[in-house]
Amino acid sequence: MAYSREVFNIAKDRLSERRQQALRNADYKRETLFAEIPRLREINNELLSIGAAIAKAIVKDGFERDGIRELSERSLILQNEQDTILTAKGIDKSVLEPKFKCPVCQDTGYIELDNRTVICDCFNKLMADIACERLSDSLPIKNSTFESFKLDFYSSVKDSNGIVPLDRMSNIYNYCVDYADNFSVHSRSLLMRGATGLGKTHLSLAIANEVIKKGMSVIYVSAPEIFSKLEREHFSHQYDTQDDTFNSLLKCDLLIIDDLGTEFVTQFSVSCLYNLFNSRLLADKPVIISTNLSLTELVNTYSQRFVSRVLGSCDCLIFAGEDYRTR
Ligand SMILES: Nc1ncnc2c1ncn2[C@@H]1O[C@H](COP(=O)(O)OP(=O)(O)OP(=O)(O)O)[C@@H](O)[C@H]1O
Ligand SMILES: [Mg+2]
Ligand SMILES: [Zn+2]
Repeated sequence: MAYSREVFNIAKDRLSERRQQALRNADYKRETLFAEIPRLREINNELLSIGAAIAKAIVKDGFERDGIRELSERSLILQNEQDTILTAKGIDKSVLEPKFKCPVCQDTGYIELDNRTVICDCFNKLMADIACERLSDSLPIKNSTFESFKLDFYSSVKDSNGIVPLDRMSNIYNYCVDYADNFSVHSRSLLMRGATGLGKTHLSLAIANEVIKKGMSVIYVSAPEIFSKLEREHFSHQYDTQDDTFNSLLKCDLLIIDDLGTEFVTQFSVSCLYNLFNSRLLADKPVIISTNLSLTELVNTYSQRFVSRVLGSCDCLIFAGEDYRTR
């Protein structure tokens, strides 16, 4: 999947900063060690000048010269001395090496493969993360946790549908806690349905919180926000940015689409939603959708085909109770 030049550049800068940081840390550690054991600094300096001398000799005279052999032998002796000093002090010799986050490419972002330079997996992962962050900038996550979700405000008296809201919501709460605890990239998708102010957004964000804590990527979007963004990018021909948006929505470990049905419904938004949901379904990646709409309204708005897909692949949580905001 391709990302925009913008995402590419941000990733490149971050990677370069990562590499510089690793080099600076290594320098710092080396300097500390040299201050403690000055002989190591002498060895290091001599090794560096031997390296330079060998390089020079090779360029000048080819590989045949005796001088090179002498230099190599001297270099080996010095390395042994260095190892002996470190071992005696109980120090692993890797302390002298930079600790790159990605040992494969040493945080350069590129590797050599079959005589070609290709992008390292870590660079691709970073671009995916950045594109994802840019979508989730406004994740309103802080106050919506499982701890702050109260069950005692749901009534224990049967409502007009014969449902006891407290029982229903206790089940839903436990289900969500369990879902978050056991979340994996192949968890089931969820459909949260119910009237306004019953805690759908709250619980979906509580799940998001836990999933993020597990180190997985979450995108939370409200339907009006995401469809108008996609539509804007599409109709102003910003295909590059639209690719970023789509890639992120498809690739993240958990996608939460909140307030489905409150967007301005167009042929474009309906087909985007269908494609998005379907592609994630095929890739076995979970989506949490929450909506005020009834099943009939969902069918009328998005088609029977879409609703069948959703019902066939989601666990449905039907919220009950009274609007929390009005209490
Ligand atoms: N059981 C609860 N315990 C604590 N706070 C709650 C609970 N239910 C809802 N709230 C709070 O009430 C407000 C409204 O809830 P929320 O946004 O989750 O409702 P919703 O079902 O998503 O409604 P809508 O359909 O209008 O989007 C939020 O601030 C939420 O944190
Ligand atoms: Mg909501
Ligand atoms: Zn790498």
